[in-house]
Amino acid sequence: MNTLASAVKREGLDTTHGAILYLNDITVSFDGFKAINKLNLDISVGELRCIIGPNGAGKTTMMDVITGKTRPTSGTAFFGQNYDLATMTEYEIAHAGIGRKFQRPTVFEQHTVFENLELAMKMDKRVRPTLFARLTSEQEGKIDAILRQIRLNGSEHRLAGLLSHGQKQWLEIGMLLMQEPQLILLDEPVAGMSDAETARTAELLNELRGKHSIMVVEHDMGFVTEIAQQGKVTVLHEGSVLAEGRMDQVQADERVIDVYLGR
Ligand SMILES: Nc1ncnc2c1ncn2[C@@H]1O[C@H](COP(=O)(O)OP(=O)(O)OP(=O)(O)O)[C@@H](O)[C@H]1O
Ligand SMILES: [Mg+2]
Repeated sequence: MNTLASAVKREGLDTTHGAILYLNDITVSFDGFKAINKLNLDISVGELRCIIGPNGAGKTTMMDVITGKTRPTSGTAFFGQNYDLATMTEYEIAHAGIGRKFQRPTVFEQHTVFENLELAMKMDKRVRPTLFARLTSEQEGKIDAILRQIRLNGSEHRLAGLLSHGQKQWLEIGMLLMQEPQLILLDEPVAGMSDAETARTAELLNELRGKHSIMVVEHDMGFVTEIAQQGKVTVLHEGSVLAEGRMDQVQADERVIDVYLGR
């Protein structure tokens, strides 16, 4: 898809029915083993949804389906009303407005924090290629705003390779934000972080709430409690939704305690 077509389609993201993501009866079989088994899940526009569940429940595989890395064996996945994710490439899905952060940070270690954000902006295929052009003041303003948001203002001239693990994770979230995704997928964002970094990441996500639709997979229940607030938490188990509700509701659910929280 050329830049113009993708820009037009992007503006065409139709969320008139309130949801930004619809997964309908999705199954993913790996040689007959169902990593995802008739999964149904919707995310509303602006929602911050936490996904929890035991190892092997299918959380990462679900993100692979949403981002086009894995094709569903059956079922449908829609982004807004008009993007059929199962027919799109990973590239097209990213440029339609779904951004994903993997567990391991993948920043450019030999470049400064500022340069990483600048590169993320220039890799955004929605804008004209401007790799060697100087930044406009609007672009600089955007980078400054994101530096503050990810708590790296003051560190913008440090090499990314010298940042702590948590700071690298924030930088990668910042690089995602540069591309202004409408739906952000975060797979275990606080794994390996210190307690202080985890607390700041919860603050960061609480600030992003409502500005983007966000799906967060995490095993750190303290962190999930901080960011779930009164919103919905989905518990996955054996490739399907076992329970869904407020954090206090799912924590009190016997089935959830049996398969996950009670362990
Ligand atoms: N490419 C693959 N081929 C075969 N089996 C796979 C593949 N990818 C995932 N699986 C299996 O599918 C199941 C779901 O894995 P997945 O990584 O989605 O779980 P998860 O919920 O993310 O777990 P964790 O909390 O440990 O990250 C697991 O049993 C896994 O071994
Ligand atoms: Mg996983």
